[in-house]
Amino acid sequence: MRKYLFAGNWKMNKTLKETEEYFNKFLKRLSEIDFSDREIMIAPPFTVLAYSKNFIKNTPLKLGAQNSCWEEKGAFTGEISPVMLKELGVEYVILGHSERRHIFGESNELIAKRVEGVYKFELIPILCVGETLEERNKGKTLEVVEKQLLEGLSNIKDIKGDKIVIAYEPVWAIGTGINATPEEAEEVHSFIRERLKNLYSKEISTQIRILYGGSVTPDNIQDLMKKPNIDGVLVGGASLDPEKFFKICNIK
Ligand code: G3P
Repeated sequence: MRKYLFAGNWKMNKTLKETEEYFNKFLKRLSEIDFSDREIMIAPPFTVLAYSKNFIKNTPLKLGAQNSCWEEKGAFTGEISPVMLKELGVEYVILGHSERRHIFGESNELIAKRVEGVYKFELIPILCVGETLEERNKGKTLEVVEKQLLEGLSNIKDIKGDKIVIAYEPVWAIGTGINATPEEAEEVHSFIRERLKNLYSKEISTQIRILYGGSVTPDNIQDLMKKPNIDGVLVGGASLDPEKFFKICNIK
């Protein structure tokens, strides 16, 4: 069955020195975690990816990136290719994050190209979807999530369920301290799984992991993870603190 995924998104945080301090603390706690039913991934900024790999190379931790271009190389100023990421040991790539959508204007069409490119080069895309507060208040949550999901996956035809991850991150819950309740999250997660079933097959839909993201902390993780369609979490702020992230990753 699906392995839980606890993923840390550092966003635009941590220098080389801070990265070293982080791993020196986090790695000390790793032996306490039972990895038999879970994976832990950390996605640092590009500037410390290679450096982070040095710390985690002999551990079960997985390395993630926060974005990727779809092409192998070429005239794409400011972008990083999936091949470059792979060379550094990256396994997961976060795509379509709400900050990419809302601050940098990334469209579903552009995100679909990124998802396709990352998938083609055998990295695991984590496709993020989620509604704004205004959309939720207008009762449009499922409609928005469905559109982002279907358009984001539109270039992936021959899918392997364990090679793609979806993250539901309601925009109003990101960095606000207000998490979706487990019930609110489960409603959207089960909807996503149902849509994946229609899109691909029942078997594939049960293989795909669906993460929740938005103000996850050591205090609310336990209740969120009790829900049957929540297969892990994508954590921003709390993943920057090694002790908090350890507590999140180590829930029983
Ligand atoms: O990708 C993680 C995310 O956007 C949630 O951030 O700070 O609310 O945990 P945060």
